[in-house]
Amino acid sequence: MILPLFVCPGEGVRREIGSMPNQYQLSIENFVGECEKARALGVGGVLVFGLPESKDELASGAYAPDGIVQRAVRAVKQEVPGLLVITDVCNCEYTSHGHCGKIVNGDVDNDATLEWLGETALSHARAGADVVAPSDMMDGRVGAIRRVLDSNGFSNTPILSYAAKFASVFYGPFREAAESTPQFSDRRGYQMDPANAREAMREIELDLEEGADMIMIKPAMPYLDLIWEARQRFDVPLSAYQVSGEYSMIEAAARNGWLDHDRAMMESLTSIRRAGADFILTYFALTAARVLG
Ligand code: PBG
Repeated sequence: MILPLFVCPGEGVRREIGSMPNQYQLSIENFVGECEKARALGVGGVLVFGLPESKDELASGAYAPDGIVQRAVRAVKQEVPGLLVITDVCNCEYTSHGHCGKIVNGDVDNDATLEWLGETALSHARAGADVVAPSDMMDGRVGAIRRVLDSNGFSNTPILSYAAKFASVFYGPFREAAESTPQFSDRRGYQMDPANAREAMREIELDLEEGADMIMIKPAMPYLDLIWEARQRFDVPLSAYQVSGEYSMIEAAARNGWLDHDRAMMESLTSIRRAGADFILTYFALTAARVLG
């Protein structure tokens, strides 16, 4: 299991996310503390999301050498050695409009965005990230990131590609957590149509051709069939992201006394594993690790 964490500016910040009970926006020292817990419990690693000091049209906080993720990664690599650190490479937390890319003539411009993604991935690798994980779904991003990493001495930094990421309603709670709701339109221009299974396999194939080392299906539970299909077709490390909405549904039901929390959590994780995921990105990582003992 990999634990996603949200790191924010400031000191002593541990702000619970309203839409995701028991998940927090954490300033760097608290983020490091959470990483220590993850390592102590034997969690496989963390996935880092950043909330910048300020947002702009150019997502400059995403690729700033002293940006929030870059600083957090330096801190965790120094203070919690041995913990696997994956960084989310995307722009939506950093743009004033909340889209994952550069806006040109009122629309997200795929190719102009690739440059930002390459810069961001490189700055994360320089900060010490073990793996970079592009989640924006722009076409050609894996190849673009690979080229930038390779030509700057980071040919050994693997890319975990959110290869099949659907335009899902289940990201709703995350957008509150990461303050990344699009200010106009939606993400259906770059994320995938939930009805289209064949396109998912095609997207995975393309990402592998471009040099992805590991792939991800996202969300997880509504797409178990695709995790299974990808497992049959592709002999590479395969992951699934149990996203914010999947987490919050279980938390909400448990808080109402409608479901047994730990059993619902473990059954959902088991289903994702059974479908063929080698590893699971999940907000339950710490709790499930405690249950597993
Ligand atoms: C950034 C990103 C999102 C998630 C992960 N990376 C949000 C989105 O695409 O809207 C969602 C994660 C979750 O819901 O837990 N593009």
